[in-house]
Amino acid sequence: MSKLNLSRLTTLALGMALALGTAALPARAEEEATPQRLSWSFWGPFGSYDQAQLQRGFKVYREVCSACHSLHRVAFRNLSDPGGPAFTEGQVKALAAEYDVPGEPDDKGEVNPRKGRPADYFPLVFANDNAARAANNGAIPPDMSLLAKARGESPGFPGFIFDIFRQYQEGGPDYIHALITNGYLDEAKGEKPPEGVKVPDGAHYNKIFPAPHFIAMAKPISDGQVEYTDGTPQTVDQYTRDVAAFLMWAAEPKLEERKRTGFKVILFLVVLSGLLYFTKKRVWSAVGAH
Ligand code: HEC
Repeated sequence: MSKLNLSRLTTLALGMALALGTAALPARAEEEATPQRLSWSFWGPFGSYDQAQLQRGFKVYREVCSACHSLHRVAFRNLSDPGGPAFTEGQVKALAAEYDVPGEPDDKGEVNPRKGRPADYFPLVFANDNAARAANNGAIPPDMSLLAKARGESPGFPGFIFDIFRQYQEGGPDYIHALITNGYLDEAKGEKPPEGVKVPDGAHYNKIFPAPHFIAMAKPISDGQVEYTDGTPQTVDQYTRDVAAFLMWAAEPKLEERKRTGFKVILFLVVLSGLLYFTKKRVWSAVGAH
């Protein structure tokens, strides 16, 4: 096959892929109750966390969500790691001391609580699952350490293929944001569950929560509930963006490092491919001459 044909074929293939990709987009947008895709600072090959956003998100977690959701795989000291909320060590020390954590067993084997230190992990909110269920209408508020990675919708075929090229990895934060902002029915506007749907006692209808759309958590946050000192709007939309970004960091604290390494690896492979190509030409040039 000649060079010209090959490049034509590539163009055709790319064109078809693009056409299919854009055709797949509007269809998805029309579907009701799929989370809206937001633009996140950590999107794409060079994305990174917005430190001020992570700090605000932590504030929302701490003042609201932490009443029910634990963050048991995160240590206080992680909050001062570079690439994260990057609180100072002094701030982290003071924060840790506000929490009681289980101490080391004493001579009699009794475990007494002591004040937290930066190396400790966030303590559990409920002593065990039964206590969690008893306090929450029979449902367990999931631990939030990995929640942003454990949730998110898959667009199915062929959407997921385009998502690979678009580098879409923000399904978790998009889901968390949508669940709280658009998922719940707006009773002030007279929204009701669909005809014939009976919402069980203690449950709430939520369009984004997977079918049958009954979630045990009531809408957890409202406008103005958390005070921001940097002039950022104090709205549910902003709160949930911030807390979702914070939870993404909690689930993937090394995201920036991973992206940077990935970029270097690709760059290396590109250079190596070039070198190998010219080496091959050189080595085989004598054979071609005959
Ligand atoms: C009063 C307790 C309570 C508070 C406060 C609370 N939640 Fe929840 N949350 C729950 C319970 C209970 C569930 C489990 C719901 C279920 O499985 O039906 C849950 C589930 C969730 C889920 C998982 C939904 C899923 O797909 O399984 C997310 C996300 C979530 N909460 C986010 C938040 C955020 C963000 C905050 C803070 C702004 C928050 N929650 C505050 C009780 C709470």
